[in-house]
Order: sequence, then C-alpha cells, then structure tokens
Amino acid sequence: MSLSQWLFAAGYDALDRTVQRRVRPYRRKTAGRAWGDVLEIGAGTGSNLSFYPDGVRITAVEPNPHMARRLRRKARALAKDVTIVADVGERLPFADGSFDCVVSTLVLCMVDDLTRVVAEARRVLRPGGEFLFYEHVASPNGPKRWLQDRLNPLWRFTTTGCNLNRDIGGAIRSAGFKELEVEDFELSLGLPMTLPNIVGRAVA
Ligand SMILES: C[S@@+](CC[C@H](N)C(=O)[O-])C[C@H]1O[C@@H](n2cnc3c(N)ncnc32)[C@H](O)[C@@H]1O
Repeated sequence: MSLSQWLFAAGYDALDRTVQRRVRPYRRKTAGRAWGDVLEIGAGTGSNLSFYPDGVRITAVEPNPHMARRLRRKARALAKDVTIVADVGERLPFADGSFDCVVSTLVLCMVDDLTRVVAEARRVLRPGGEFLFYEHVASPNGPKRWLQDRLNPLWRFTTTGCNLNRDIGGAIRSAGFKELEVEDFELSLGLPMTLPNIVGRAVA
C-alpha cells in the first residue's frame, strides 16, 4: 500500500467538503435514487452514504484500505448497515444479477480498466436494474480536450491515478445497456476552466 494512497484517503474528506455544495445535486441523482440491493463501486470514504434512501441494502467495494477504514467509521456514525468488500470494480466478487442498482460516482476516472468495470456493473445487475453514474469526463471540445491531455500526466500523478480525459460516456454507451439517459454539463469549481461532467442512468 503506497504512501500516496494513504495521503489521498487522509485528504479526501477535506477535498470533498470544498466541492460538496456543487456536487450534492449529482449525489442526489445517483445514490439518492438507488433502491433495493445496491452495490457502490469505489465508495471511498462514504461521501454518498447520507444520500441513500432508508431501507436500501448497501454493499460497497473499495480497494484502498485507508478509504475503507473511513467508510466503516462513517457508516457507523450514520447508523447505516454497509457490507464493505476489499476488491476492485474490474472483478466484482458477486454472481450475475445480484443487485438492483450499481452506483459509481467519481470512480471511473480512476479505475485501471474502464471498459471492464462498466461490463462488470452490467453483469451484476438484475434485468431492469439501474447503473447510476456521476463522473467527470473528457471534453468533446477541441482546445479544452487538448489542455486535458497535456495536464493529465501531472494530474494523474498528484491524484494517485485520476484521469481528466476519459470518454466515460462512450464506454457506458458501448456496454450494451437496454436504456440509457445521460446528461452532459459543465461543472464550475470556481477555477478558470469548467469541468465537463456526466450524470445518468443505464438500465440492464
Ligand atoms: C475520487 S474517489 C471517489 C469516492 C466516492 N465514490 C465519491 O463519490 O466521493 C475514487 C475511489 O475509487 C477507488 N478506486 C480506484 N480504483 C478502483 C477500482 N479499480 N475499483 C474500485 N474502486 C476503485 C479509490 O480507492 C477511491 O476510493
């Protein structure tokens, strides 16, 4: 386990608090709309926990043990019953059709194999189940995409693996879901450049 993973976990809640107000509507549109048996991929320190409706049964996959420790603490503080599994989205240790919803927020930018994780999300959903996602993505626009590509190596290094320039919408579109709703928008973080984001649902 690397020092950078420890640092990322230690700083994550402070970072999350700085963007909380801007990101809250998208946590409501994903975790807030989950139902039944829910799998959250890359649950981090548990930023979505307070958004889940009462009564959902939450399983959280989180590979970083320092994140998982904070997630466990937050679940206890919020009296949420969460099953935490130390694994990665590329090989979800669950049978086909195990969940009603899979939630992913700000995770697909970091995984090693985007296509594989989306395929796994679809595999573990029951027919009619929903993949609820909120992610920052590559810009479709020329100059901004050019800048994202140039900044990405440094960004990736300082954030322990987050990528600014992934076509996450494209990967979800190609994954064979039956229905897909995707909202594209620009998120302002008060910086000179806005960040292209997507929020949506895909039905298995
Ligand atoms: C930027 S954080 C987002 C945390 C949380 N989902 C949120 O919305 O605040 C990304 C999380 O994805 C996890 N992660 C990285 N690679 C992963 C993988 N291959 N499979 C599952 N989770 C992964 C990281 O450990 C981290 O907790």
